[in-house]
Amino acid sequence: MYARAVAATATAILGTAALLSPAPDALAGEAGEPTVVAHRGASAYAPENTLASIDKAAQLGFSWVENDVQRTKDGQLVVIHDDSLRRTTNVEDVFPGRAPWKVKDFTAAEIARLDAGSWFSPAYAGTRVPTLKQYMRRVEHNHEKLLLEVKNPELYPGIEQQTVRLLGNEGWLDRRHLGRLIVQSFDADSVRTVHRLKPALTTAYLGTPPGAQLRQYARFSDLINPSYGSISARYVSAVHAVTGPHGRRLGVFAWTVDDAAGAWKAAGYGVDGIITNKPDVVRTALRTG
Ligand code: G3P
Ligand code: CA
Repeated sequence: MYARAVAATATAILGTAALLSPAPDALAGEAGEPTVVAHRGASAYAPENTLASIDKAAQLGFSWVENDVQRTKDGQLVVIHDDSLRRTTNVEDVFPGRAPWKVKDFTAAEIARLDAGSWFSPAYAGTRVPTLKQYMRRVEHNHEKLLLEVKNPELYPGIEQQTVRLLGNEGWLDRRHLGRLIVQSFDADSVRTVHRLKPALTTAYLGTPPGAQLRQYARFSDLINPSYGSISARYVSAVHAVTGPHGRRLGVFAWTVDDAAGAWKAAGYGVDGIITNKPDVVRTALRTG
């Protein structure tokens, strides 16, 4: 009875949406050191968007990792950045007649044959392009937190529904997991769709919308995640002044910062998070700057 009364009072104060959406710890506070997010995993030290790259982030002591999600010809969600397999796998050797080697033109079984590690270093030979399912299980195993990017959604109609469904099937849409998950995209319609499908999810728009448009983005996006070269302290303050869909101030995670000077600059702007290929470099800078 007492618990119900407390919940009712909290709902009255915060609004239902806030209660339904536990804030990721990265957004819970408004002061302190920015959260460091390992971009595509610790991708300066292990091949990007692989299980090895998130294992490396965990070994270095980082819990937040970022990835990119796309879809195969036969409808499997896979974790890879480019819309082509060419740069980060040996697809040209394995399937020489299949230029331009687009992710969407290969089945999951074909992609599972590719080496996604040798291009980076012989030490990672045999590393695979993970399916999103495999990836989520490793994030869970490593007790990590995920900034999931829906990449190139215009190429994959319905990828938002499919991603949200997979997250639910993997147990990532319960209250405990919602506190360690953010879904982002460069495509505002895609972010809006994710918000509509699962309003309790924390979402982020990748880009630097003009100040006058921030309130429109705040209808469906909890964070504005800009390239760090595109912002200023004034812009970050303008974003922070806007309230998002869950009744919290909008957050800002800036990308991609790989050196001490950039880390100091971004931190000086007041960002909530820094997305980096070199999380150790950024952490050291933040603690010594
Ligand atoms: O998370 C920010 C960053 O990933 C956006 O750029 O091209 O690396 O996906 P990109
Ligand atoms: Ca990305």
